[in-house]
Amino acid sequence: MRSHYCTDLSKDDIGKEVLLCGWTNTYRDHGGVIFIDLRDRSGLVQLVCDPADSVKAHEIASKVRDEYVLKAKGKVRARGEGLINQRLKTGEIEIVVDELIIENASEALPFMIGDESVNEDIRLKYRFLDLRNERMQNIFKMRSAAAIAARNSLDKMGFIEFETPMLTRATPEGARDYLVPSRVYPGQFYALPQSPQLFKQLLMCSGFDRYFQLAKCFRDEDLRADRQPEFTQIDVEMSFVEQEDIINMAESMLKDIFKACGYDISTPFRRMSYKEATETYGSDKPDLRYDLKLIDVIDIFERSSNEIFSSIAKDPKRNRIKALKVPNGDNIFSKREMNRFEEFVRKFGAQGLGYFQMKEDGLKGPLCKFFTQDDLDEIVKRSELQVGDVVFFGAGRKKIVLDYMGRFRVFLAEQMGIIDANKMEFLWVLDFPMFEQNDDGSYSAMHHPFTMPKNIDAENMEDILSIAHDVVLNGFELGGGSIRIHKNDVQQKVFKLLGIDEEEQKEKFGFLLDALSFGAPPHGGIAIGFDRLIMLATKSSSIRDVIAFPKTQRAQCPMTKAPSEANSEQLRELGLRLREKEK
Ligand code: AMO
Repeated sequence: MRSHYCTDLSKDDIGKEVLLCGWTNTYRDHGGVIFIDLRDRSGLVQLVCDPADSVKAHEIASKVRDEYVLKAKGKVRARGEGLINQRLKTGEIEIVVDELIIENASEALPFMIGDESVNEDIRLKYRFLDLRNERMQNIFKMRSAAAIAARNSLDKMGFIEFETPMLTRATPEGARDYLVPSRVYPGQFYALPQSPQLFKQLLMCSGFDRYFQLAKCFRDEDLRADRQPEFTQIDVEMSFVEQEDIINMAESMLKDIFKACGYDISTPFRRMSYKEATETYGSDKPDLRYDLKLIDVIDIFERSSNEIFSSIAKDPKRNRIKALKVPNGDNIFSKREMNRFEEFVRKFGAQGLGYFQMKEDGLKGPLCKFFTQDDLDEIVKRSELQVGDVVFFGAGRKKIVLDYMGRFRVFLAEQMGIIDANKMEFLWVLDFPMFEQNDDGSYSAMHHPFTMPKNIDAENMEDILSIAHDVVLNGFELGGGSIRIHKNDVQQKVFKLLGIDEEEQKEKFGFLLDALSFGAPPHGGIAIGFDRLIMLATKSSSIRDVIAFPKTQRAQCPMTKAPSEANSEQLRELGLRLREKEK
């Protein structure tokens, strides 16, 4: 229909006859001449409807309202002196319209296109309108470019694209499954895949050597700003590789993808062990755009005369006492703000938050009296304190202290405004524990049960590490993967440690154990969270902004109103009966 997109046109086209199609972004009547900013996916161009050029087009233009769909035929002309709009790509020209067709009208809008101050539920209800705004259009153009770059990059490296089933069995990635009832087998259910983990391993067993998929994954878990129930992974698997090969492949793919998003990222990325990440930054996905490190002071506190601290410090295996230095904090924060910090950490299980201030004449603060001068000096030395600095302390159970001090670190960085939004700090986190203990004493796999352990025969389960790798960007877990177990006996050993007995192994993973016993190659891989990648590349604050039709935090779609009830006929066919709703 159209001859050009709006912003294809420039001064070079002056005098050309063009046919443009799009939406009415704005319209104004200036003394009988009507100006319309016509919008298509490329941007805006100004249409001029002057009765002196075409009485009919002008008459039609007078009926145009916001978001009317137009087809306009006319001639490109230079704008007059002083009428040039520098902010518009096509600001030097306009289209003198001689034929205008209203292809479709629009009702009054529920919100102005581009007004992001409106409630998100309303934006999601009218997502098709919300997506018309320029920021959203740019996000999805970038998303498309990134997906194509991922495919090209992987193709260049010899990967084969696959599709794996959506209707499958549960895959243990740690979340709840979305179940789909079977009509043919009443009482039985498919599960939507939490990831294609086992299928990609089986494809390695089939000898394809290099697999990839832009894979849809489904996880019924608590939703957050970086989590959706349905999301996309760039999922990769390779045979006859070591961890180093996967890391190199992933860095080179990420370089290509980020290039398509307008970033020149440098490789290799930094690397850090899980232990260092959690002990120094209180997180297994530390944001390294700013410094702020946790410093171990448990030995100093053991010598303090404060009963609470010294008893916590007596058990350094289970407990931690960590210091967090805030350079110049004494001058930045008021007493009231420091009290607010305590409220913040209490939300995450802290009993309190002690602090020292570094004054001209040494450390000050209510805790000083519990320490000898030598130990106060040691705190100053170890934390490298200068006059004006503040140092905060967290003490208690290891897991809780590292967690709240890590969160506090991020909170402080935000409060202090020291996060450089333009930085891209990539990091590999390595040497993860293979297992983590649940509250009930049982163990789960920290990644998944198919991850190759480094030292399966270690005496304590807590000491077994895995050959896993997470790639972190600016404090977000961008992707994760591992070398896999390719030997049947090792796999069975891991299942056993996880408390999965032989019968359950056979029932749930018989096909995997079979595949491992018919000549499985050594293999490994990674999956990059594609939505998260786009969220970070577009500097969006929510993953919902980068998914065309996302769910709300409560896992609903306000537009289609999914999920919805099934009627009694459907339920009967599926052999399901709903429990009486509780009164
Ligand atoms: P994992 O569970 O770590 O690994 O997932 C890989 C990456 O997927 C992204 N991700 C999510 N993104 C949005 N919403 C969610 N709910 C969500 N959950 C995960 C994250 C994460 O790093 N099969 C393994 C990969 C492997 O071992 O190769 C897996 O799925 O960015």
